[in-house]
Amino acid sequence: MIEYKSGVFGLHGDRVSCLLRVNPYGLLELLHFGPSVRTEDADAFLLTPGLGWGESILLTENDTASCPDVMPLAWSGSGRGDYRESPLSFGGQPTDFRYASHEIIDGTVPTVSGLPQARGNAQTLAITMEQPGAQLILYFTLFGNVLTRRAYLKNTGESSITLTKIMSNLMDLPGDYEMTTFDGGWIAEMRKHTVPVLDSRVVNESVTGFSSHRHNPGFLLSAPGASETEGWVYGFNLVYSGNHYAAAQRSLQGLTRVVQGVSPTEFLRELHPGEDFESPEAVIAFSDCGFGGLSEIMHRFVNTCIVPNHWQNRPRPVLFNNWEGCMFDFNHRRLVNLAKDAKALGCELFVLDDGWFGKRDSDTAGLGDYTVNKNKFPHGLSGLAKKIRTMGMEFGLWFEPESVNVDSELYRRHPDWALTDSFEPLFSRHQLLLDLTRVDVRDYIVENVSHILDTVSITYVKWDMNRHSIALGAKAHDYVLGLYEVLDRIFTPRPHILLESCSSGGNRFDLGMLCYGPQIWCSDDTDPIERLSIQENLSYLYPQSTFGAHVSTAPHAQTLRNTPLATRGNVSFFGCLGYELDLKHLLGIEITQIKEQIAFYKQYRHVFQYGSFYRLSNGWQVTNGSTTLAATFRKLVSAAPGYETLKLKGLQREATYRFRTNPQKLRVGQFSSLVKHVAPVDLNPNGVLLRLADRHITLPDGEQALTASGAALMAGVRLLPLFRGTGYDTSQRTLTDFGSELYIIEEDDPCETS
Ligand code: GLA
Repeated sequence: MIEYKSGVFGLHGDRVSCLLRVNPYGLLELLHFGPSVRTEDADAFLLTPGLGWGESILLTENDTASCPDVMPLAWSGSGRGDYRESPLSFGGQPTDFRYASHEIIDGTVPTVSGLPQARGNAQTLAITMEQPGAQLILYFTLFGNVLTRRAYLKNTGESSITLTKIMSNLMDLPGDYEMTTFDGGWIAEMRKHTVPVLDSRVVNESVTGFSSHRHNPGFLLSAPGASETEGWVYGFNLVYSGNHYAAAQRSLQGLTRVVQGVSPTEFLRELHPGEDFESPEAVIAFSDCGFGGLSEIMHRFVNTCIVPNHWQNRPRPVLFNNWEGCMFDFNHRRLVNLAKDAKALGCELFVLDDGWFGKRDSDTAGLGDYTVNKNKFPHGLSGLAKKIRTMGMEFGLWFEPESVNVDSELYRRHPDWALTDSFEPLFSRHQLLLDLTRVDVRDYIVENVSHILDTVSITYVKWDMNRHSIALGAKAHDYVLGLYEVLDRIFTPRPHILLESCSSGGNRFDLGMLCYGPQIWCSDDTDPIERLSIQENLSYLYPQSTFGAHVSTAPHAQTLRNTPLATRGNVSFFGCLGYELDLKHLLGIEITQIKEQIAFYKQYRHVFQYGSFYRLSNGWQVTNGSTTLAATFRKLVSAAPGYETLKLKGLQREATYRFRTNPQKLRVGQFSSLVKHVAPVDLNPNGVLLRLADRHITLPDGEQALTASGAALMAGVRLLPLFRGTGYDTSQRTLTDFGSELYIIEEDDPCETS
């Protein structure tokens, strides 16, 4: 609810309030953004500078309260006495916008440039600010407990404006904070770093042309000492896939200024009279229940206001992707055999990855050409799709439409379509980017991709993009707008197609892409131990329904780490499950195990994909009404491990629950020569017999089953003891390095207790 009372704007969710006022100088002050309060409480939040701050610049001579440098603002000017970071820059000219009018609007205000935006039940406060020759509208839209902000600038004067910076959000928050960012690179996405915000600026910026795996646009500001369940935490994100910028800095007066928007690095727009520019939408959430509380709010927001309507709350298929199993080495027959095996395992969607078109037998050629490779597919793609659909599976296809190889028909025909500058072309993965700021390039992509989608039965698209930009410079924003136009033209008329975006893994994991497709491939690193941190760190700001999470082979191609199949499954369950490995050489016991994993996941997939997600100290939990699933993960074992407790969250204290282990099997081979301690015969650790036994015999691991109240389970279940060097027995958990287990917790007769 948004209201305007006695000169104060009150924006209220049930757990958050934002109070703003226009101060006597026409500047917009942020009085409060935090726990829910009343609009009438505004007086409690007024900050007054008393007799001023020494040598500060004054907006009104002799009025010591008029120093902009110390005001708690929600927007500011530049070169006019506020020396903190400015949200706006007109190429070195000062800016000084003052309040002109406001409007409270039911719903959202549509963007005008084609930028995606959040949708859903909302109210918008539009505050118009003016300075001679320019108008600025600041939009504050409230979606439940999440606030979004953006700025719209119009040149209303008679000369051009050189716009070199425009932020989407500026907030001065009283107090000290720590800033958490998620940084990394290829196969190393989402590494979490937390630093105190002191008097020097802390910056989170991407300049690669895309939102990037180097610095995800989402970040957190938390009060020192905040935990998973307690303390103040602010979460910020941007509905944008291009260069972004955010910064936080504490002032002498103890206000932490945070700004976020498009990166000003190389940003430049010449706004001629009558022209306008709008910033992407910033997303801001607050929780006084710690990081977990913040994530819960962000998850709900993404699931209900960001991802396409068709896919909201809709179960996602278990997919099989041929990339890691085949790379470029496949043909119709090999894929049909793979698909048969995948179907037998329980997969519902077969995804053909890179290599199906042009002369794409390696990553050196073919990108840009959309003609099906007739050598690999004598019956065309339709032949393959038909075959797969007759098996009872859906068919999905990989595209990388934004790039081109020099060795391609497209490049030979249109070398000028590739983005280059006046220097030698710089390649990445042997490819160049196409210039999506051009209409003919966009039309080419839309026509060619649409043609394939309309002629082959395809229900899933993996949209990849495998390089950073160069040569975009000031055009970087237009490239992103071009991309959004292309995605909109292809996918809006085909809402049933499940779009999973990808950029060398998670190089474009952002809310902009999620507006077009509900899933993103988190990382080319599918090693479950790596995924523990990638998926967990994504979970601060993104729900598990957005994670493409696949089981792949071990040892893992990116880390050479050997992990149990159970752990690969247990980690991938907490996302949209897929399998991505060669199935040809799987052992019978592995096939059985994968079948069980898929059947189990299907039974609980709604809870895994859409349940409330909790980060536990030793694992993850999802809960959906009466069903809870929790996994504990072990990185390295230690000798003589102590007792372990699993403290569940979010259960009903009074309800009774049945708690049980999801059964797991141990491979005989993993014990090698130690098998002699339990086997009736002396087995050669390097011999055929043990190898045979390993293929056919599994041992049960310890299983636990009990009934207890929600209160007890939240106080902490004592798990079965871990292996302590005293022999194998099912009264304990025999977990090795990288072991894990999963527990199913179901409410006992939920109807009776509700
Ligand atoms: C990228 C993606 C992979 C795969 C390959 C294909 O690396 O992240 O999943 O699609 O491209 O070339």
